[in-house]
Amino acid sequence: MQVFKEKELLKQSLSNNKLAGNTIGLVPTMGALHEGHLYLVKEALKSCDQVVVSIFVNPTQFDNPEDLEKYPRNLEKDINLLQNISEEIIVFTPNANELYGDLIISEHFDFDGLDIVMEGKHRTGHFDGVGTVVKLLFEAVEPNKAFFGEKDYQQLQIIRKLTEIENIPVEIVGCPILREESGLARSSRNERLNDLQREKAAFIFETLKETKTLFGTKSANYINDWVEQQFRNYPFLELEYFEISDAKTLKKLTEKREGEHYRAFIAAYAGDIRLIDNLALNN
Ligand code: PAF
Repeated sequence: MQVFKEKELLKQSLSNNKLAGNTIGLVPTMGALHEGHLYLVKEALKSCDQVVVSIFVNPTQFDNPEDLEKYPRNLEKDINLLQNISEEIIVFTPNANELYGDLIISEHFDFDGLDIVMEGKHRTGHFDGVGTVVKLLFEAVEPNKAFFGEKDYQQLQIIRKLTEIENIPVEIVGCPILREESGLARSSRNERLNDLQREKAAFIFETLKETKTLFGTKSANYINDWVEQQFRNYPFLELEYFEISDAKTLKKLTEKREGEHYRAFIAAYAGDIRLIDNLALNN
């Protein structure tokens, strides 16, 4: 399997693919790969001739230096996991200066309000950092398609917006959330949960499923109060936010409109581990 640390060498390797008109798929990751990432890679392999997986822990999207430091890194294990899927995958794992140049800073984007709600409200500058690194990765790889998980649904919508405002000719493919048997959404952070926390964290998805049922007959205010009450009575998790939002604009639901799609979003802490999840409320 080919592993590149330098943009120029990656570009040279991809140039024959491009000349032959092959479809190039990019799966951007920060490593610590789990089943959720591998699912994205397998989806990419189904519809692309050449798949590039980037592994880069992006400093500009962390608002807390301790989080950046603690972020799990195990390149060798990640490469082995990818190798087990296909030897043909290309891994791109640059260092920060190689990707950013001398100045490792975020560009500021106008995401039309998508970035100021939910995750954006609780993680200052996070989405400018994500937008910056994804734009740099798109410039390095020039993929035809890029694959992102719906677990980070807000990120997915922001990346769609990024390609629109920056005129980047890439198809963004959103892939469904992969769950553990208990229903807990798969995430690199789950590895940090102890057995009890992992078991109890399934409550997040249980609550989301219940909000889907309530959504048929109850108002957003009623459901908000109900969710907050559920978490108050549940000692294992601390709710950071619950929101029902328009699936496209991510604006908080005030009044249901015929023909619009809505999603419920939760962020909650198990100890110091922050977990997020979301669910479509109407299809
Ligand atoms: O979802 C992630 O892992 C990251 O936010 C991404 C898209 C790889 C950018 O660093």
